[in-house]
Amino acid sequence: MQGKQILVGVTGGIACYKVCDLVSKLRQKGADVHVVMTAAAQELVTPHTFKSLSGNPVSTELFYDPKSVPHINLADKADLVVIAPATANIIAKMAHGIADDLLSTLVLACKCPIIIAPAMNVNMYSNPIVQENLEKLKIAGVKTIGPNSGNLACGTSGKGRMAEPLEIFHFVEEVLHNKKDLEGRKILISAGGTREPIDPVRYIGNRSSGKMGYALANAASKRGAQVTLVTTIIRDVEPGINVIEVETAQEMHDEILSQSCDSDMIIMAAAVADFKPKNVKNEKIKKLEKEGLIIELERTPDILKSLGKNKRKDQILIGFAAETQNLAENALEKLKKKNLDMIVANDVTCEGAGFGSDTNIVTIYDKRGNQKEFPLLSKFEISNKILDYALQMCSG
Ligand code: PMT
Repeated sequence: MQGKQILVGVTGGIACYKVCDLVSKLRQKGADVHVVMTAAAQELVTPHTFKSLSGNPVSTELFYDPKSVPHINLADKADLVVIAPATANIIAKMAHGIADDLLSTLVLACKCPIIIAPAMNVNMYSNPIVQENLEKLKIAGVKTIGPNSGNLACGTSGKGRMAEPLEIFHFVEEVLHNKKDLEGRKILISAGGTREPIDPVRYIGNRSSGKMGYALANAASKRGAQVTLVTTIIRDVEPGINVIEVETAQEMHDEILSQSCDSDMIIMAAAVADFKPKNVKNEKIKKLEKEGLIIELERTPDILKSLGKNKRKDQILIGFAAETQNLAENALEKLKKKNLDMIVANDVTCEGAGFGSDTNIVTIYDKRGNQKEFPLLSKFEISNKILDYALQMCSG
């Protein structure tokens, strides 16, 4: 997002106040954010607020300066336009090419991708005229995020709530990263934490949510790769990703190894159990009068190590290292021991990094002795950094 010029169009929906957060997030990620407000939006949030958050003047008027043509200047420079909230009014104007204020005029002049985040009353949203206008915009290539269902400002509930700022932010990231540089490559990715049964109702597991592996799969798929995802957790994925559900380390091992020969790149983001109960009980273990319980554990297969042993020369093998101390030392040891091309190390004790969060903080180490640190980024952004790095490794 660094250096990208993003134009945020704010129209007169009560969700305007949430867009302050979006503008702030975009700017924090290095985007050059310019806000354009309609007259109705200015009744709800002042331009001054957006000026402070974006660090740029806010545009509100079509005819304020006889020497410049603001709608053309803004439209020409923008890499992306986001209209949030997008009221039924702006949607109707866009669908019919009406240009009667700065925002509606400049979207007509824009050649870059446009995202709208509709927000309105549930009955307005389901009105066939609004739906028809949205359909027209879809056909014209305008991308839509939301609306979500939930409580609405008018006191009712239903579909019409603007997508959350973080969802819009991730969508902006996705649209900006619309390059197809992984076309023709087959990528195998693992996600989630394995579950090792103790008895029919209990298992040994870990805190992995699968978000990192899914972000990688979605990012790779958007860039044109043919992706197979072997996962213990089911989440939303890009259409076209081949999702294979497994539970245990052994099942993940078997699936990954059977798919590996055919893969150009393998990324093990899953948190795989190192041990499993030696004897899985067929019946639920009873408390009885026991003071404690000893469960004997045995090693699970090391999937990455097996992949490293059988690696093809032209295959890129990427591991993760989840560490709580000595990040570099432990990651480098795994890189070498498992014969990897790259390892992505995360200190899972850091705030915003590791398990469960939507963000991560990682350092990539490669087999040539290079390393690259990344600050706190969304898991989707990190995924694109990992894929960029892997592509560089491929090209030597
Ligand atoms: O899923 P999230 O909530 O988004 O969290 C993301 C994450 C913290 C799980 C992810 O960023 C991460 O660090 N994944 C690797 C977790 C892990 O198992 O790390 P490890 O250091 O124990 O293992 C090193 C590597 O060997 C990993 O690539 C792992 O997949 C692999 N491994 C481990 C054990 C085993 N038996 N077989 C393996 O292949």
